[in-house]
Amino acid sequence: MSALSAQGVSKNFGGVQALSDISLDVPEGQRRVIIGPNGAGKTTFFNMLTGTFPVSGGRISLFGQDITQLPANERANLGLARTFQITNLFSRLTVMENLLLALQAGTSGAYSLFRSMRANTALFQRADELLEHWQLTGIASSPAREISYGQQRQVDLMLAMSRNPKVLLLDEPMAGLSAAEVVRVSGMIHELPREMTILMIEHDMDVAFDLADRINVFHQGQMIVEGNADEIRAHPQVNEIYLGAD
Ligand SMILES: Nc1ncnc2c1ncn2[C@@H]1O[C@H](COP(=O)(O)OP(=O)(O)O)[C@@H](O)[C@H]1O
Ligand SMILES: [Mg+2]
Repeated sequence: MSALSAQGVSKNFGGVQALSDISLDVPEGQRRVIIGPNGAGKTTFFNMLTGTFPVSGGRISLFGQDITQLPANERANLGLARTFQITNLFSRLTVMENLLLALQAGTSGAYSLFRSMRANTALFQRADELLEHWQLTGIASSPAREISYGQQRQVDLMLAMSRNPKVLLLDEPMAGLSAAEVVRVSGMIHELPREMTILMIEHDMDVAFDLADRINVFHQGQMIVEGNADEIRAHPQVNEIYLGAD
């Protein structure tokens, strides 16, 4: 059974066909990367998977369950998490506060003022562990707007992983990072539990080929090829798109 499956997914915005008839299956534990030029429909596809926008056609399922009509928060509760192409932190809150909010959203007493002390202690403990694991303890009490862009992206990633999702969607996690930060964030992704299924949009081919078990190429709203790194490298249309684009 696939962890995540899209069958004939399409989307149009007004008259614009942003996605046409996309079908792909990601087996549990696979690292799948989507590449393609700007405007190819990659982020729109993520928005369909997570329920940010409704599909215009097609079906989406998570571990065999049809989630096409489920709202985004229910998909998240089923174990689907994402990061955004642009950082999604509360800028005035500290890194720790952002993390506590993300963790709290996964508990039944979310946003309650009357949480038990024990529940709060567990949340703080989990937050401390995560900060330490990802070596972000040093910025725990900094407001999100005061840390570097590269650190913000790392915190975004930590938040998406904080609830231990079954399927993690990463939208260009390396965008705008320095070479050293790219190494660090790739390391974070490599270190994720192997059973976690990861679907990632990546602009940089080297990063994509390094992380991917399998790759899909999107172009003008269509999925033009799926294959392993060698198959993608050798594909004439992929070469044309990338050489043509640069
Ligand atoms: N909310 C929206 N409303 C209207 N058009 C959109 C919206 N989101 C994306 N599009 C259009 O869909 C196409 C694909 O965009 P996008 O999915 O962001 O591409 P990518 O992530 O591959 O760069 C583009 O033509 C874009 O302008
Ligand atoms: Mg995008």
